[in-house]
Amino acid sequence: MTAPTRSRPVGVPESDFDPYTDEALLDPWPGYRRLREAGPTVWLSKYEMFAMTRHSSVRRVLEDWQTFSSAYGVMMNDEMNKVLRGNTLCSDGEQHDAQRRVVIRPLRPLSLRALHDQITAEAEQLVERLVTKGSFDAATELAHHLPLTVVSNLIGLPEEGREQMLLWASEMFNCFGPANERTVSAFPVLQQMVSYASTQAVRGKLKPGSWAEAIHDAADRGEISPEAVPVMMIDYMGPSLDTTIFAISSAVELFARHPDQWDLVRQDPSLVAGAVEEVIRLEAPIQDFSRYAVSDYDLDGVTVPAGSRAIVFYGAANRDEREFPDPDRFDVRRNARTHMGFGAGPHQCVGMTLARLEISALLIALAKQVRRFEVTSSQRALHNILRGFTRLEVSVS
Ligand code: HEM
Repeated sequence: MTAPTRSRPVGVPESDFDPYTDEALLDPWPGYRRLREAGPTVWLSKYEMFAMTRHSSVRRVLEDWQTFSSAYGVMMNDEMNKVLRGNTLCSDGEQHDAQRRVVIRPLRPLSLRALHDQITAEAEQLVERLVTKGSFDAATELAHHLPLTVVSNLIGLPEEGREQMLLWASEMFNCFGPANERTVSAFPVLQQMVSYASTQAVRGKLKPGSWAEAIHDAADRGEISPEAVPVMMIDYMGPSLDTTIFAISSAVELFARHPDQWDLVRQDPSLVAGAVEEVIRLEAPIQDFSRYAVSDYDLDGVTVPAGSRAIVFYGAANRDEREFPDPDRFDVRRNARTHMGFGAGPHQCVGMTLARLEISALLIALAKQVRRFEVTSSQRALHNILRGFTRLEVSVS
């Protein structure tokens, strides 16, 4: 695939808003609102890309993979698009379907049923330990445990180098952004991750029976191309950690700020499933990816020309008042299921059932033991793509 060319559009609302400044990353909502109001799609003059921020625009782009391709990469810079070319996230059509079938196999609700008890027990023991201390860092001590122990083991990568996984995954997502300083400084770390995937995530070093080994097995059976195997390791290594970790920290922060909503969950734990969706709607851990238009597309009267790149802002779609009444309000009883936090269409998250299971298990365990969270100190991640906390010290009562 050749590098995309960007065409300047005619008759499209234009904005000089930069969603990747520190200020915008910390508080993207006013900027998103202005973009939504400006039109179904807006030309971001600084980056020469389209921004999709309305719920209907984001959904249409994600569903129409024939026009809005992922095979040219879903990142906002060409260099990164070359690095991940051919993994499941960055492929279309039959190749995508074949790879997705392999990656999703252990992540289907039925396959995950066997994990339910283990994750619940781990969550309860962890919460018991932390609550006994009276205060803890929810962004690390609480949020890291399940993704870094249970999920990492299931993926089955060799122990050596695994401690780097969090840094790698986070810097990988930074590289998804436009070619700004955050992206450029993350690149060397990403190269370590890619090299680990091709030298360590190999037969003989992977845990027998693991998810990663199953990708090699699928290549042996001819279900997928052997060339895709190293880059497919990143399908698991990249998105299985920070996304869930950030969602967990956002959940605790929201419940600390909204004790009335926590009371509702404590009184009726059947609300937890809906609360998880509401957290992901309001604080989408992945704020945006992009697509490449292979042909002209009419979006409610605005033409997105072939050869342009469109950034799909899941986080902005999730706060579109056209879809969600009073969208900035945290309401665990809301029906948030149409949110875009897990994407939509053929690339919708394959790990969402697992992520829901991990987050729910922790919230259910917390609801049994914690009446109130008080945030004593916090730091938001300044990250091109991900939203959440790097530090969230809470005391619990
Ligand atoms: C709260 C946690 C998570 C969030 C918010 C999230 C979000 C997303 C989103 C928005 C997409 C769509 C990408 C697109 O439109 O191009 C996606 C795809 C994907 N996610 Fe997740 N994810 C989460 C957890 C996970 C986990 C735990 C795994 C693996 C164990 C995972 C693996 C994947 C993969 C492999 C894809 C690509 C699917 C495809 O291209 O067909 N995710 N995720």
